[in-house]
Amino acid sequence: MRDFFLRFSSAFIVSLGLHEGVGLGLGLAQAQAQTQPRQDMPALVNAVPKDASTQSDLSSDARAGKAVAVSREGQCTLCHQIPEHLGAMGDLGPPLGGVASRLSAQAIEVRVKDSRRVNPYTIMPPYFSTDGLSQVDPKFKGQTLLSEAQLRQVLAYLSTLK
Ligand code: HEC
Repeated sequence: MRDFFLRFSSAFIVSLGLHEGVGLGLGLAQAQAQTQPRQDMPALVNAVPKDASTQSDLSSDARAGKAVAVSREGQCTLCHQIPEHLGAMGDLGPPLGGVASRLSAQAIEVRVKDSRRVNPYTIMPPYFSTDGLSQVDPKFKGQTLLSEAQLRQVLAYLSTLK
């Protein structure tokens, strides 16, 4: 009887030990997995499109211009696709990627200031002209959509879209 108990309890201890061993092994494997450097991370980080605030290859004016373009003042993204922008974008106008290769700086400026000078029927708002605008809220009468500084910044940004 005593013999049986001894054998039984040692079998019990062995099986406990096994469980613990496996548990410990798994725990170690997990700890190792957690401390292994994530090889896939750099690729993922690079794959995330750059936001205006992180695009450090742009000059500060151009960066500010990109922020204006996607802001409530600019709202260019209502109608245009802007490279590497993360938010929703419309396509009533041509994508602005590559615009600086298609048009001269002057041609871009004319269009942003007042696209009606190129196409009288354009749906693009005149960003730096108040000529002929009707139904303007008295609060904004006589004001252009963009300030002179914002216009300069937007043009600086567009000039980077080669
Ligand atoms: C309501 C829609 C709309 C908004 C908002 C808008 N655009 Fe446009 N844009 C157009 C359309 C449509 C055209 C194509 C030419 C045309 O129909 O006048 C155009 C043309 C352009 C062009 C010439 C592109 C080319 O390849 O010929 C530029 C540059 C441009 N827009 C810049 C801007 C910028 C910068 C903003 C924001 C500050 C803006 N647009 C906001 C509709 C819009």
